[in-house]
Amino acid sequence: MENLDISVKKISMTFNSGSKNIIALDNISFDVEQGKLFCIVGPSGCGKSTLLRIILGLLEPNEGTVWTNPTREKLGVAYVQQHALLLPWRTLLQNAALGIEIKSKLNPRTIERVKKEIREYRLNEFETNLPSELSGGMKQKADIIRALESRPKLLFCD
Ligand SMILES: Nc1ncnc2c1ncn2[C@@H]1O[C@H](COP(=O)(O)OP(=O)(O)OP(=O)(O)O)[C@@H](O)[C@H]1O
Ligand SMILES: [Mg+2]
Repeated sequence: MENLDISVKKISMTFNSGSKNIIALDNISFDVEQGKLFCIVGPSGCGKSTLLRIILGLLEPNEGTVWTNPTREKLGVAYVQQHALLLPWRTLLQNAALGIEIKSKLNPRTIERVKKEIREYRLNEFETNLPSELSGGMKQKADIIRALESRPKLLFCD
């Protein structure tokens, strides 16, 4: 396990939706080696988001187990959801800096780092805009900046 970041074993998940059962995941197993970029590709509704939520511990599977490297986990995990979830009362900059703020690492140097990243994404003009004043793509970029700038050791992107 030392060289792994994630180990998924025999995960199954069925949703009960009204009168029908939807098998979202059926006996899924895989390992992710440390430091690797691992992509899950598949058609809409095949269970990608469900799998990610199970790995993150946000959803309990019907069957199977998930192991995530505890050392890496302790150092930081970030999650970019399929639909950007920004705090509506915070500006783009404040949302982008949220991960740093939660880690109590907000200071002039880290704020400048976030601002630099916002400039790289060509969003500096919108730094003081609220999420309701941003386009969908801008919100997603702000969410990605938030996740990356928290300098996670495990990054999950839906
Ligand atoms: N809370 C839920 N209740 C009932 N069914 C659900 C629930 N969440 C997901 N499903 C169903 O499980 C299946 C997998 O959904 P999931 O969101 O994981 O797909 P996905 O691969 O992420 O799709 P997309 O590419 O469109 O984002 C779908 O058929 C979906 O309708
Ligand atoms: Mg999805």
